[in-house]
Amino acid sequence: MSTLQWILMDHVVALLGVATWFATGVTAALGRHRIALALLGAAVLVTVARLGTVALLADRGWWFVQEKVLLGLPMLGAAGLVAVLLAGPRLLAARQSPAAGLPAGALVAVLTAGFAALAGLVVTFTAGYPLTWSTALIAVALVCAAALLTARVVGRPAAPAAEAGSPEHTPAAAGPTALSRRRFLGVAGGVVAAGAGATGVGLLFRDPEAMVTGGGPGHAGGTRPQVSVADLRGPGAPAARGTARRHVLTARTGTVTIPSGRAIDAWSYEGRLPGPAITATEGDLIEVTLRNADIEDGVTVHWHGYDVPCGEDGAPGATQHAVQPGGEFVYRFQADQVGTYWYHTHQASHPAVRKGLYGTLVVTPREDRPEAERGLDLTLPVHTFDDVVILGDQEGRAVHDVRPGQPVRLRLINTDSNPHWFAVVGSSFRVVAVDGRDLNQPGEVREVGLRLPAGGRYDLVLAMPEAKVTLLLDNDSDQGILLRPPGVGGGDRPLPDTADWPEFDLLDYGEPAAVPFDADDADRHFTIVLDRALAMVDGKPAYAQTVDGRAHPSVPDQLVREGDVVRFTVVNRSLETHPWHLHGHPVLILSRDGRRYSGSPLWMDTFDVRPGEVWEVAFRADNPGVWMNHCHNLPHQEQGMMLRLVYDGVTTPFASTSHAH
Ligand code: C2O
Ligand code: CU
Repeated sequence: MSTLQWILMDHVVALLGVATWFATGVTAALGRHRIALALLGAAVLVTVARLGTVALLADRGWWFVQEKVLLGLPMLGAAGLVAVLLAGPRLLAARQSPAAGLPAGALVAVLTAGFAALAGLVVTFTAGYPLTWSTALIAVALVCAAALLTARVVGRPAAPAAEAGSPEHTPAAAGPTALSRRRFLGVAGGVVAAGAGATGVGLLFRDPEAMVTGGGPGHAGGTRPQVSVADLRGPGAPAARGTARRHVLTARTGTVTIPSGRAIDAWSYEGRLPGPAITATEGDLIEVTLRNADIEDGVTVHWHGYDVPCGEDGAPGATQHAVQPGGEFVYRFQADQVGTYWYHTHQASHPAVRKGLYGTLVVTPREDRPEAERGLDLTLPVHTFDDVVILGDQEGRAVHDVRPGQPVRLRLINTDSNPHWFAVVGSSFRVVAVDGRDLNQPGEVREVGLRLPAGGRYDLVLAMPEAKVTLLLDNDSDQGILLRPPGVGGGDRPLPDTADWPEFDLLDYGEPAAVPFDADDADRHFTIVLDRALAMVDGKPAYAQTVDGRAHPSVPDQLVREGDVVRFTVVNRSLETHPWHLHGHPVLILSRDGRRYSGSPLWMDTFDVRPGEVWEVAFRADNPGVWMNHCHNLPHQEQGMMLRLVYDGVTTPFASTSHAH
């Protein structure tokens, strides 16, 4: 079973535990002793089964079970044991003599086990990993408080459950000293629980540490010269043979009419969806003047996957201030990375990107082959607006005439926050590049589904066959691209159901080749645990998308030094997919759930960490700056799933305490 299945199984068993413990208490209180006894047995069995699911999950990684092992199970174990010892013999006896009942103390113990089971489950969903003292104290205090309250309620002389069988156990029948001792215990317990709870709540407001070092050295301090990201800018002129490619991107609100005639209420660059296609030849200089006409929240341009100097990265609050209405910012960088990329605003990315502030960036090699021999080269960003999906700049299915034998390159770009499913019908093909970077000796594949992560890119290459070829998007026969040899007419053959084609896996695709560093000998190793939890966002509690239990801007920075080999372990504890994206560096994918990537070296800038998955990746810190490191499901990023990777010695004058994305 997959880790996700074990996670779900564990949730189900935990929920059953809550149900059986409470049901035991309720049936016992109602005097249904036979049923209560059976339920008590079930509660014990379920609790033991829980040990099994947690142990199996622990095998997948400590991150998945830490709060269960250190808090949930000990609480439940202790409460459950007391409940069994107090209530078990009484319930057994009650089978023989129905007149015998359950004393109040036993009933309280059973219900307390229920509270403990519930608390464990709530901690898993609201706090997760890592377990903090704050969480533990609050959870224990709440369980104690619930137990004390229950004791008050069922201990009352009028309470039928307590009076049912054994009057000698009701407080009214107890002697005056027993009564006051009981009262004293109740008050003392209440004070301790309140103290623990208050301490736990107080700890919530403690300032988090500002930085983690991943096992490497901390700040070098005054010995090292400091450089500001504002000074880490691109060159002013192109390389020897290159030319300058100048563009103006004016961001504005307003209706954009796409080729199908549909009007979209958008935010766009230059009134176009997507924004102007930026293309260049290797070595060119790209110079983009961003202007903001009327985007109230401000706007930037971030070059997704392009390893520009940090000052050109377009990350507000880190590398620049967002450009306000009427303002301007000029980006300049050398196009020395060949491949398929895209750009988008990084200010309030959600909802600004979804509304249309995106475009494509394609850099081709400097080669002497004539244009005609290069065949058809299509750049196909997919983007979803409220009620319409566009691929390239078109809605529906676009048709291209292609001569048989001609090479075709399809550059698929996912500009949405969720994965898309592409399929090529009618031809085999090769995936020649992922996230802009070429693969080594990629082989032919056919009839596979390509799941493209949010933010990711695949470049497909095929030789046009004699018959039609269809690129299908999300298995929707009305969406995609039709490639048609001239003169081939006739009706469309019905398209196959590509939804259940096997998923193309990069795990062993292509051939191995040398990589520039030894990832097993990393200088720093950071673990990034992704989850959904209650966390403080900007000083307010929120049900956030979290990194190590914290939400942006409270997630500690990751500190690196130039030249370090850095390793990330990215763990997804949640039930949603998180496309992880580090700015400024591609990462080398090492393994997924313990399985090594054994094909072509695979460099990605956005990799989908699905529920329950654990990814190992590494990179060389060779691009000094202050870089955002976040989930590219933009609503998740907005809800806190973001942190910064900071080079020692690099400072930013743009950091704001306000919530900037
Ligand atoms: Cu494409 Cu920080 O994002
Ligand atoms: Cu996410």
